[in-house]
Amino acid sequence: MKVNDSGMPEEAYWNSLLDIEGIVDWLAITENSAIVEIGCGYGTFTVPIAKKSGGNIYAFDIEPSMIEIARENVYKSGQSNVIFSLRDILEQGTGIESNSVDMVLLFNILHCNERRMLLAEASRILKKGGIVAIIHWRKDIPTPRGPAIDLRPDITQILNAYEGLNLRYQGNSRILEPYHWGIQLIKGDPA
Ligand SMILES: C[S@@+](CC[C@H](N)C(=O)[O-])C[C@H]1O[C@@H](n2cnc3c(N)ncnc32)[C@H](O)[C@@H]1O
Repeated sequence: MKVNDSGMPEEAYWNSLLDIEGIVDWLAITENSAIVEIGCGYGTFTVPIAKKSGGNIYAFDIEPSMIEIARENVYKSGQSNVIFSLRDILEQGTGIESNSVDMVLLFNILHCNERRMLLAEASRILKKGGIVAIIHWRKDIPTPRGPAIDLRPDITQILNAYEGLNLRYQGNSRILEPYHWGIQLIKGDPA
């Protein structure tokens, strides 16, 4: 089941709406990190995170066209450390081993009703100390794209959504100019 309001505009326009470098810097990726990206879209972040990490990147999307374009973008970048999967994450989860990855990206996807399920899946596959990084469109200003304002989560909704999922917030949230905000949560002890 595709997340509501998760279709993409033309690629160059999409990329122009995000401070890609600034957001990747905020992730503070360490070398050789294993990273899962849920809903990779055009690979806007897949390519730079693959370069930064050098470790295995597991990129998922439900749309064959997105996987195809993202794969092509990774190929053109010369990176060979991305494993793509065409998969409905809401229906099937990631299929990744529990407690096995360093970071999970939930970028521009948590406006769905299944927010807690995605956070639970992220928590399940993260190692202790691993990070789930979330970005989404701001609600406090007009933005040229993004799902309907009332669907967009804010930080408080995220903080309310992960109770009991072995994740904790240590203050790493910020506005990611111009149109996004981000929050990072840390996995506690393995369940
Ligand atoms: C708004 S786009 C964001 C793309 C990318 N994360 C970014 O920020 O550039 C959301 C992506 O999630 C994908 N998606 C939606 N529902 C999904 C599902 N159930 N399983 C996997 N991917 C899904 C869409 O096809 C789309 O490519």
